[in-house]
Amino acid sequence: MGREGALAPTHIQVSGLRFARGARPVFRDVRADFLRDRINVILGGSGAGKTTLLRMFGCLLRPDAGSILVDGDTELTRLGAAEVRSYRRRVGMMFQGGALLDSLSIYDNLALPLREHSPLSEGEIQREVDQVFDSVGLEGVGALLPAELSGGMRKRAALARALVTAPDILLCDEPFSGLDPATVRLVEALLVDVNERLGVTMVIASHHIPSTFRMAQQIVLLVDGGAVSGTPKWFHGCRDPKVDHFFAGEAK
Ligand SMILES: Nc1ncnc2c1ncn2[C@@H]1O[C@H](COP(=O)(O)OP(=O)(O)OP(=O)(O)O)[C@@H](O)[C@H]1O
Ligand SMILES: [Mg+2]
Repeated sequence: MGREGALAPTHIQVSGLRFARGARPVFRDVRADFLRDRINVILGGSGAGKTTLLRMFGCLLRPDAGSILVDGDTELTRLGAAEVRSYRRRVGMMFQGGALLDSLSIYDNLALPLREHSPLSEGEIQREVDQVFDSVGLEGVGALLPAELSGGMRKRAALARALVTAPDILLCDEPFSGLDPATVRLVEALLVDVNERLGVTMVIASHHIPSTFRMAQQIVLLVDGGAVSGTPKWFHGCRDPKVDHFFAGEAK
């Protein structure tokens, strides 16, 4: 992690990506760059493949063809099982619903990946967990079960769980779903704050257009089996009919 000047600005480079579910093509030819240490938001209609792309970035799914190059040297589509396991340790995932185990306290949910994958002692784990609680603004909830938290706090806890292993890349699927507008603003501010302080590359799949234009440095719009990408400013001025069609009725 960090903002080393020598590293290339592109963290994940996707090219020629092809993927079909049965007879239905999801990706025909996706190419896009995801920027290091920045907030990258994947937009697209329902079924456009946002979750599918995040799953590919987490090495949970392989494309039929094409390349996903991480750090200029790790080709995700060609990793063996052991390499996948070590790559996944560099990736935090905050996926819909799946992030927290219902039967474990919030503290144990956060401690679990460290107990399983690090040589840290219980005291050291506690320090790490407390630090992450602090960085997402969650204190005093360690003993509670996930079901005892409000929707906004659950998102915070899921984010904390995804950050506890200090990942280089954070994948978030629809972090704003099911939240009221005020809580959307809070979770959005939290993601921006964490991004600035921890310098982690964020890839966020979202339907939420206003928050995307507020928080993203790079937007990747999945449309017609391909991708259109650029900065929010570039999208504001973009007159591509495919892009206009997606944003129809929504202020860019
Ligand atoms: N397990 C699955 N089996 C069959 N088809 C699937 C499966 N998962 C996804 N698909 C299909 O792949 C396509 C892309 O789905 P995906 O979930 O990635 O879209 P999405 O952009 O995340 O949509 P949403 O905005 O609704 O979350 C859809 O057509 C979907 O029907
Ligand atoms: Mg989805």
